[in-house]
Amino acid sequence: MRIAKIALAAALVFSAAAASAQTVKIGFITSYSGLNGNLGPYMERAVKLYLKQHEKELGGVKVELLTRDDTGPNPDKARQLAQELVVRDKVNLLAGVIFTPNAMAMAPIATEAKVPFVIMNAGTSVISTRSPYIVRSSFTLWQSSYPLGQWASKKFKTAYTLVSDFGPGHDSEEAFIKGFTEGGGKMLGSVRVPLQNPDWAAYMQRVKDAKPDVLKVFIPAGKTATAVMKNFSDLGLAQAGIKLIGPGDITTDEELPNMGDVALGVLTVHHYSAAATRPQNKAFVDAWKKEYGANETPNFVAVGAYDGAAIIVDAIKALKGKLDPDKTMEEYLREVKKVDGQLANVEIETVGTAVKDPWKQLKK
Ligand code: PHB
Repeated sequence: MRIAKIALAAALVFSAAAASAQTVKIGFITSYSGLNGNLGPYMERAVKLYLKQHEKELGGVKVELLTRDDTGPNPDKARQLAQELVVRDKVNLLAGVIFTPNAMAMAPIATEAKVPFVIMNAGTSVISTRSPYIVRSSFTLWQSSYPLGQWASKKFKTAYTLVSDFGPGHDSEEAFIKGFTEGGGKMLGSVRVPLQNPDWAAYMQRVKDAKPDVLKVFIPAGKTATAVMKNFSDLGLAQAGIKLIGPGDITTDEELPNMGDVALGVLTVHHYSAAATRPQNKAFVDAWKKEYGANETPNFVAVGAYDGAAIIVDAIKALKGKLDPDKTMEEYLREVKKVDGQLANVEIETVGTAVKDPWKQLKK
């Protein structure tokens, strides 16, 4: 991360100088429509909040956010938008991006145009190797799913995995299975389901018939998480004694109120929970509520974007030779519980200081 930040700063100095800009233009591509299009506004609001909190530090440099809707997992659209932002709007940076296929499609544009690209969500490990101009402020699925597998192997004998059939799903499946089987767990089966509109009943029935101790799921956060929760419950898997676990994407904070009590007891590993009580998080959640309303809660997509904005602000400040110290990341084991009558991802254990992506250590 440190090296990436310095590289980003250097690239930004270069591109800002080239445009002799006192305005830094960010080409911000995220999902405002299509699959889980509710996530884009979390990303945008987080970036705007960070910039508002820190604009005074920028020494008069203005930041302009050019927002674009990639319409969900749609690599052609993302590529076209990135191309336009770089060529026509002459942005100094690309940023945003919920979905892996979109980030992969944008990477060559960042490389060709020498435009730094701050990825604020898309979590497939390989993405950050696709361009020297990429910095990622979010996470990888290996960071959550590998420690989840290791942890689960100590509590459960048998497991089944169900993942959305695209990059982060494949990573999550492989990472979990590696952690789980290395720890002595036995896999009873794995299924990959279409990213959009899978026949949940059929897949859940298949899992139920295999009778695993745990079902480990990855699907993209947003409405898909609520669909999983409802189908898991409706098809009677909980009643059959199967425990639902996964990376925190499956209990994404903003959907908990829509899931209701079927989510109670679900166990996840993740780096972020809106219910976390560390002082920095309380300050972040408070600032969010003050800005966007008492009933609004940030989620992990918001925090990825907030941290991405911090990298950008650091890089702009580096124009004057200043860089903030690195932030660190930990992974927490959480259980969905009720706190003051509301569902929350309550952290119960720290399962890994996954500052480094296990994929990059274990697979290369
Ligand atoms: C991704 O496409 O990389 C992605 C999307 C949603 C998530 C996590 C990863 O919740």
